[in-house]
Amino acid sequence: MKKILAFNGSPHANGNTAITLKVVTNELNKHGVETETIQLGGKKIRACLGCRKCWELKNKQCVIKDDMINELILKMEESDGFIIGSPVYISNVTSEVKAFLDRTTFVGEANDFLYKGKIGAPVVVATKTGANFAYAAINFMFGLSEMITVGSTYWNCAFGKLPGDVLNDKQGIEGLVRLGNNIAEVLLRI
Ligand SMILES: Cc1cc2nc3c(=O)[nH]c(=O)nc-3n(C[C@H](O)[C@H](O)[C@H](O)COP(=O)(O)O)c2cc1C
Repeated sequence: MKKILAFNGSPHANGNTAITLKVVTNELNKHGVETETIQLGGKKIRACLGCRKCWELKNKQCVIKDDMINELILKMEESDGFIIGSPVYISNVTSEVKAFLDRTTFVGEANDFLYKGKIGAPVVVATKTGANFAYAAINFMFGLSEMITVGSTYWNCAFGKLPGDVLNDKQGIEGLVRLGNNIAEVLLRI
């Protein structure tokens, strides 16, 4: 069975980002794709030290051992792809998502492109503006990692402020339903 991980970069475990990820994973589940949602927001995730030890050791691990990143790298290697969701914070992803992107991408690259050929899709939620920046920030990981990026109409973005508001963005939700179906279709083709 194919498996897709969904990372929630919001500190709100049941907020708008969680809702949008659920819309996508529901569609995947309908197609028989297994999904696992992993909470990143609000967790202690340290920033990259820039030590380049991952390039020296090439052991699929980051030298920082006291957070969840190494466990996540193992899960990512075993998966068929991942959706990375973030609310827009000052026109970008949250700090946890940025630290996650930096460290998992660098370890992956140092280890012969660990995520090559896997599926990647960003999902971003904003109140008003900055969605494109956050969307691009996540996509940079997929592009550098030789992954297959899956899109939808209006770039997997939805709008809302307080937890639950995003459900009022009918067009955004429709785009995310489409994203789930598109990911399932690509998985079937590969
Ligand atoms: C620190 C902070 C910065 C934010 N920056 C932006 C922003 O630049 N643009 C925007 O449209 N919304 C911004 N927002 C609003 C959130 O993106 C929005 O409320 C989102 O729906 C929250 O998703 P969540 O429920 O998953 O946490 C910001 C919110 C916070 C707390």
